[in-house]
Amino acid sequence: MTKKDCVLAIDQGTTSTRSIVFDRDANELAAARQEFPQHYPNAGWVEHCPEDIWNDVLNTAKAALEQSGAKDRVAGIGITNQRETIVVWERSTGKPIHRAIVWQDRRTASVCQQLRDEGAEALVRARTGLLLDPYFSATKLAWLLDNVEGARARAEKGELAFGTIDSFLLWRLTGGKVHATDATNASRTMLFDIHRQQWDQDLLALFRVPAALLPEVRDSSALYGETDPALFGRPIPIAGIAGDQQAAVVGQACFSPGMAKATYGTGCFLLLNTGDKPVESRNRMLTTVAYRLNGKPTYALEGSIFVAGAAIKWLRDGLHLITHASQTDDMATRVPHSHGVYMVPGFVGLGAPHWDPDARGLICGLTLDATAAHIARAALESVAYQTLDLVSAMVQDGGGTTESIRVDGGMSANDWYCQFLADMLQAKVERPRNVETTALGAGFLAGIATGVWENETTVAAEWARGSLFEPKMDSTQRRTMIAGWHQAVKRTLSTYT
Ligand code: G3P
Repeated sequence: MTKKDCVLAIDQGTTSTRSIVFDRDANELAAARQEFPQHYPNAGWVEHCPEDIWNDVLNTAKAALEQSGAKDRVAGIGITNQRETIVVWERSTGKPIHRAIVWQDRRTASVCQQLRDEGAEALVRARTGLLLDPYFSATKLAWLLDNVEGARARAEKGELAFGTIDSFLLWRLTGGKVHATDATNASRTMLFDIHRQQWDQDLLALFRVPAALLPEVRDSSALYGETDPALFGRPIPIAGIAGDQQAAVVGQACFSPGMAKATYGTGCFLLLNTGDKPVESRNRMLTTVAYRLNGKPTYALEGSIFVAGAAIKWLRDGLHLITHASQTDDMATRVPHSHGVYMVPGFVGLGAPHWDPDARGLICGLTLDATAAHIARAALESVAYQTLDLVSAMVQDGGGTTESIRVDGGMSANDWYCQFLADMLQAKVERPRNVETTALGAGFLAGIATGVWENETTVAAEWARGSLFEPKMDSTQRRTMIAGWHQAVKRTLSTYT
């Protein structure tokens, strides 16, 4: 029999789907990627077509398996996914009753405001570790039940199934045999008690969600079921599931309390491992499940920056200051300092720790000798300052001291940025050799359940550092720069007069 020493990771993200085959040494053997259409039916609404997602998953998975030359060596499949996005489908046919409502969708903002006014946030916070915000799944699900004809009655009769994207894919991959999710995805629905690790009856009542809709919640590394043999020529175990930011925690091997990772995409998600204790934030950070292994949850504090890579994209597409993101590395190096120029990229308000949806962006400190390079540098600096604000809030929350932080995603490729981040955080910044940490994390979870790797320790041994950036900036200079940033942020807040 062929040795099963590889895994297939499916990374179903907000704008694209990727499938990657990894071998036992975490080498990428083959990868396939597909972008898919976004639907914006109303201002602030964002939807995906679940059939697009399903087709892309299937096609990329088949392509990666074929190209890898290791199809028969795949021990298991790991799924990682855009979190909070919801799908509701018919149990009898597997057909969705509506397009997926995406995490970015704001259609339930007024419902959330009303529930906050009624004082419901304390309950949500205590049970789920989240804020009462339309970002999470619960109010999207209630909207769908109220707005698709007959949906609520059918849900109550048990005819419909609800799931985050992982759960929908698991259902489809197993030919409708398994309706389950993992604890990390459940922890983003606003319906799951992260302390007791179960769906919460009070929250189901608050958000008017019938229990008959819900998937079973399992460990992040577990034998969920097998793929329908018709899909890939043989049944393959589905053995790992985690939300994409949590999968990156696993891919970055942040297995000990105090270890943190920052993933830079359009925005940035920073997760700090707090071990077996869920830490309650006083700074409006989220408390969430980082992963659950052998029934034991590990928790994290999470902070998000809405605009990270998007600030660089704006330099390119909005200001036409650059033609390629990688130019910012050179531009920032060309000038000895930012010349007192600050950019606060509050294009869509500010996230943690400010949570000001009405804040707006700003560039300040301009003089006649300021150049495009100063603005580019200020944009990069702004992302590091925002990361610093998150880390400081987490340290204040008692999440532990961060001596080092592991980075991945687009901006982590920029050496200048990584050095500046190390200087601002006064911490080591570690960039892994393999920056596909999200997919790798899903692969690791599947590999642990199928014996490719034994446990977290063997997985951690696969993590290899590509580059290390150590702080070297003079502390007076650092303090002055940070003070300037906080002055600039103050001016962008909606409360600024
Ligand atoms: O919470 C949303 C997050 O999971 C989305 O990640 O990488 O698909 O934009 P991404």
